[in-house]
Amino acid sequence: MNLRLFIDFEGIDKSGKATQASLLRNWLIGRGFRVEVISFPDYTTEIGLAIKAFLDGLKQFSPEVRQLLYAANRWERKNLIESWLTDGRIVIADRYTPSGLAYGYANGLPLDWMICIEKGLPQPDVVIVLDISPETSLKRSKGRVDRYESDLKFLENVRFSYKFLAEKFGWYIVDGERNPLEIFNDVIRIISRYLDIAK
Ligand code: TMP
Repeated sequence: MNLRLFIDFEGIDKSGKATQASLLRNWLIGRGFRVEVISFPDYTTEIGLAIKAFLDGLKQFSPEVRQLLYAANRWERKNLIESWLTDGRIVIADRYTPSGLAYGYANGLPLDWMICIEKGLPQPDVVIVLDISPETSLKRSKGRVDRYESDLKFLENVRFSYKFLAEKFGWYIVDGERNPLEIFNDVIRIISRYLDIAK
């Protein structure tokens, strides 16, 4: 089967991205597909460690430098993702370029510049934004917060950015306030269309 499918789950922190990525992975494997899951930021690289230090409050970077670090972190994994896609595997990302755009936009960075530094990276075919309120995000994180998560106003801006960009780029928005299996039904409905097209 000649399949090229790159799926990206998005949303503010604790929106259920990892849960949906894992459910979808198992569902696809059960149907005979080969699947890879990748999560960004990838904290295992040098750049990922710098991002971690920033999120833990140990390092300071300007919004532009942060944006470049997040993008560079994706560039570090370009060849790996491309090799999976070329090999016919379905790739599922837990955050990718759309996180860069949504968080960067909430930080007031120009969209055209942010898009420019992502140009040349493999881009997802399907982006699913799991939409939850900042209050739900904080409730679900039970006190374990990084510097963004502790800022309700910022999360509200990111949520708005996701909605604005979803409209602009044709990303799907799914209500992430429900239980994981209800959400997953919506995810399957969306993904099935792409599997039909790929057949
Ligand atoms: P994580 O909690 O999903 O590991 O992500 C860490 C934080 O980094 C999260 O608040 C979202 C933010 N982020 C960006 O601002 N830009 C990006 O490109 C990515 C991938 C994450």
